[in-house]
Amino acid sequence: MPAAIEIAGVSKVFRLYREKPSSLKARLLSGRTRAEDFWALKNVTFEVPQGKSVALIGHNGSGKTTLLKCIAGILRPTEGSIRQRGRIAALLELGAGFHPELTGRENVYLNAAFLGLGRKDTDKVFDDIVNFAELGDFMDTQVKFYSSGMLVRLGFAVAVHVDPDILLIDEVLAVGDEAFQARCLDRIAQFQRDGRTIVLVTHALDTVRQICDQAVMLDHGQVYKVGHPDEVVRALRLKILHKDLDYATEEGSKEIEIMGAELIRASGATDGPVHPGESLTIQVDLRANTPIDDPVVSFALHDGTNRYVFGGDTVSEQIQLGRFDGKKRVTFHLRAMPLVQGRYWVTLGVHGRDARRVYHVQDQRYSFEVQQSGERRDQVFITMDAAVEDL
Ligand SMILES: Nc1ncnc2c1ncn2[C@@H]1O[C@H](COP(=O)(O)OP(=O)(O)OP(=O)(O)O)[C@@H](O)[C@H]1O
Ligand SMILES: [Mg+2]
Repeated sequence: MPAAIEIAGVSKVFRLYREKPSSLKARLLSGRTRAEDFWALKNVTFEVPQGKSVALIGHNGSGKTTLLKCIAGILRPTEGSIRQRGRIAALLELGAGFHPELTGRENVYLNAAFLGLGRKDTDKVFDDIVNFAELGDFMDTQVKFYSSGMLVRLGFAVAVHVDPDILLIDEVLAVGDEAFQARCLDRIAQFQRDGRTIVLVTHALDTVRQICDQAVMLDHGQVYKVGHPDEVVRALRLKILHKDLDYATEEGSKEIEIMGAELIRASGATDGPVHPGESLTIQVDLRANTPIDDPVVSFALHDGTNRYVFGGDTVSEQIQLGRFDGKKRVTFHLRAMPLVQGRYWVTLGVHGRDARRVYHVQDQRYSFEVQQSGERRDQVFITMDAAVEDL
């Protein structure tokens, strides 16, 4: 089967006119402001197979939106070509494609027409669009008075009701409230069952893992990795971590190596769920391949959306490793973890005091699941006591 989208050697240049911070005199003498070429996309090549859901991930500014706009035909690539098969509906920036002065109702017709749906066909799906968006009372209000959540509701409702073969979604879903997001995910699942093609840009890396068949990571406008969502998400997390800690090398020099680690639950088990308020011991076994003075062992916890949650190291715990030769076991005992439902990822590192010398890093290699009973919306778990007394 031919691919739904074929992206071949796509590059995109933006011309930036930079105002150099210089004196008025210098600016007068140098004449016009200089233009600089900025390559937002560089030689991007990959295919989106028909009926598959592909995530596009990467740092802010890595080129995701630019690429999505090129696929949607809103931007023209400077080099290369893009071939799409089928009708495309795109949900790009907030309110893109909407006219602020027109009402919600008028915008539905305008937008649907833009996506290739005639007036009669739009009539047929109009009620479904309004119901899905839950904007009944606001359909005759000008769109300029809509909140960002309302804009997304309307945009998504139109996009999924024009019967597209390919759906492009840029992050915007994160703007909707929880109930709406759940409905969007339901609708996306239905799209997938119908065999439609989806390209999803998001920073919610767990969503990528849950719903996408494949992921593409962009880095500074270039394809950094294409593959199974788990692998590509890992690659992105690794990059984010190295950026945070300014690590010189990916894996470290290996003068000291992490031989292995265990996450020991309160019960003594090394796997299975953890419950809020329980303890967890991070046990790290290390080997020095050459004697090293005063290394530091550290750990970091990230949640499912790659937010940093907590971290610690031997320095802050006032542990001296001294001259490290041979093997050592370092344990961090987290007494009562205030974590709520979800999967958490553990990163381990051995490095010098200033973190510029990195001996070994294991990025998010270990993880554990916190299980909580019932439907809870807590951000943290707080151990508490309650009482009642007669007055
Ligand atoms: N119209 C434009 N003119 C000049 N530069 C632009 C334009 N649009 C995007 N850029 C630049 O291109 C780069 C890629 O931007 P893009 O919006 O594609 O990033 P992104 O991956 O979507 O980021 P984010 O995660 O923040 O949404 C950025 O450096 C951005 O400043
Ligand atoms: Mg973007």
